[in-house]
Amino acid sequence: MSDAPFSTIVEPFRIHSVEPLVMTTRQQRRGHLRAASYNLFQLRAEHVLIDLLTDSGTGAMSRDQWAAIQHGDESYAGSPSYYLFVDAVRELFPFEHVIPVHQGRAAERILFTALGGPGLIVPNNTHFDTTRANVEASGARAVDLVIAEGRDPLNEHPFKGNMDLEALEALLAEHADSVPCVMVTITNNSGGGQPVSLANLRGVREVCDRYGKPLFLDACRFAENAWFIREREDGQGERDVADIVRDMSALADGMTMSAKKDPMGNIGGWLAMRDDDLAQTCRTQLILTEGFSTYGGLAGRDLEALAQGLKEVVQHDYLRYRIRSTAYLGEALQKMGIPVLRPIGGHAVYIDARGLAPQIDPLQYPGQAVAVALYEVGGIRSCEIGTVMFGRQPDGSEVAPSMDLVRLAIPRRTYTQSHIDYVIEVCERVAAGAASLPGYRITAEPPSLRHFTATIQALD
Ligand SMILES: Cc1ncc(COP(=O)(O)O)c(C=O)c1O
Repeated sequence: MSDAPFSTIVEPFRIHSVEPLVMTTRQQRRGHLRAASYNLFQLRAEHVLIDLLTDSGTGAMSRDQWAAIQHGDESYAGSPSYYLFVDAVRELFPFEHVIPVHQGRAAERILFTALGGPGLIVPNNTHFDTTRANVEASGARAVDLVIAEGRDPLNEHPFKGNMDLEALEALLAEHADSVPCVMVTITNNSGGGQPVSLANLRGVREVCDRYGKPLFLDACRFAENAWFIREREDGQGERDVADIVRDMSALADGMTMSAKKDPMGNIGGWLAMRDDDLAQTCRTQLILTEGFSTYGGLAGRDLEALAQGLKEVVQHDYLRYRIRSTAYLGEALQKMGIPVLRPIGGHAVYIDARGLAPQIDPLQYPGQAVAVALYEVGGIRSCEIGTVMFGRQPDGSEVAPSMDLVRLAIPRRTYTQSHIDYVIEVCERVAAGAASLPGYRITAEPPSLRHFTATIQALD
């Protein structure tokens, strides 16, 4: 008998406790959309069948994480849960200072309160929306310098999250005094969940060294990034993922983390760095709004769950399943002729909505049209990552970004292959009717981060 590998993806876990899903009719979903003003963030979650809005905080914790929660120590200061958490973080990211926060954006706010300011410039491969908002809230400018291939939805470059090193060098050559730090987001969420290679990180490090600038990683999906390095980068194929992660962190001076992603938490994050003075400034900020430095807005039990999650996320069986099952969805859509961002990213499949509904002008939000249709047709909640999210400029003008994407983010260890097969069927039906989808207009919006709360209306 053959020893060839089987093609069926076997989830490396079995189900131990279940959550009910509620079925709705298309008629009911039309009503829910009207009530939510066509903004999918405003839907009630129980009206959603398959929730692919985000992979952030939506994953299933393991038996061992739930057990760790029972071990949580809720002392205000110096809890043993904090030290367990710090040890687990340092096992992968050996930074001197590890500051817990309630989620990633709190780490960003604290970092840019310390490092940002009017007239300054912060380069990144691509800023995530909250990172950009926190840089801009400090008065600084957020500049995206991903490689050109990273802006082309069909380019098959294996590391489309890479920083454009020449552009970084040019920026620093001209504005070195205005750049407080350089950031690299791994994987590059806003650019399609695309990885950054070790070679590119080394290149960024060299440029930073030449100009004396600290390098910070926005490291939410560090394990997925390391798995891609193992799979795609020369000489990395036999390595342990945890070692690759340590190589990535050794190149940086610090990091921001949303522990709602790869660390397998439902809440949490941290800010870490080597620099003592910066750490002191950040801890003062932390105490002002988040909490004392050994809990930072988290319960001791959350810190325990994260410490355990960090051990689980670097396991090769998990990462093999995770990356393969995301690709399974993406490849099925591609086979049906639905334009998807290539190669398939780690945590999500991104539909190129401009390609799917070319009749809709980018300023009439093709991504929103596709996302609304996926919910109406099949109860699937996705996330527009395009002109609704990024179109409004600080000067008030509206400019379409380079892509209008719809992200189908896969929560960790949550949905089975049959859920995903259903998603594929719904996408097929939406694609068949995409040519008649209407455009949308925004009827009310806040001054920033409008996609969360804007009210939206279909054009006749
Ligand atoms: C790359 C990246 N950075 C930062 C954040 C912000 O993290 P949080 O949602 O925990 O505030 C996210 C969240 O999706 C992200 O994907």
